[in-house]
Amino acid sequence: MDSTVNEQDRYAALEALDVDSPIWDRFFTIAPLVLVGTVEEDGRVDFAPKHMAFPLGWDNYFGFICTPRHGTYGNAKRNGAFTVTYPRPADIVMTSLTAAPRSGDEKPIVNLTDTFPAQRVVGEFVSSGYLFLECELEQIVDGFGVNSLIAGRVVAAYAQPEALRRIDRDDAEILLDVPQLAYLYPGRFAIIEETEAFPFPAGMQR
Ligand SMILES: Cc1cc2nc3c(=O)[nH]c(=O)nc-3n(C[C@H](O)[C@H](O)[C@H](O)COP(=O)(O)O)c2cc1C
Repeated sequence: MDSTVNEQDRYAALEALDVDSPIWDRFFTIAPLVLVGTVEEDGRVDFAPKHMAFPLGWDNYFGFICTPRHGTYGNAKRNGAFTVTYPRPADIVMTSLTAAPRSGDEKPIVNLTDTFPAQRVVGEFVSSGYLFLECELEQIVDGFGVNSLIAGRVVAAYAQPEALRRIDRDDAEILLDVPQLAYLYPGRFAIIEETEAFPFPAGMQR
């Protein structure tokens, strides 16, 4: 702590944000970007982009934030399942278009996208992705304002071999080969390919 700056001066130098309304559009935060796949009541496949989507701990659980207003919420609840496709940076436009309004009952991009079925749960994957998770619905936690946490257990997972870490390959090289898509909420993206090893402290334990 810098004892030469008193608390009043420190806060005078900061801008206070109004927490009576959402603060998240006021600055950038980094997030992943995935496509959550579900199946609609009429059997049609649905994909929706989610950036609030993350592993729930170190065991095989995965969660994302969704509002009950979205088709994805009802589909995941009804089927007890969802899929996750990690898209490549080259698929940024397709990924975005899955958030376009439905035309009638359809999302046109979904019909134009090559997909393949999940094996253990109801759902499809986007073929051009590099990492694919099949999730059984574990729990829905409502009540974060209008948003909910949809939590699933990963019951099957598949990856393009070049995206997998291997004893005989440098991690940095893997990321050069299979760059990661980062979403910089509220409206920018970045392609991450050049990376550095994290400076973990000696003796650190998870
Ligand atoms: C880049 C991007 C990220 C998004 N992230 C989320 C998210 O994390 N949670 C969410 O509920 N909606 C998110 N959305 C919005 C929905 O995915 C979008 O409204 C979608 O059309 C809902 O489709 P559905 O009705 O089929 O579920 C995002 C949209 C975009 C373009």
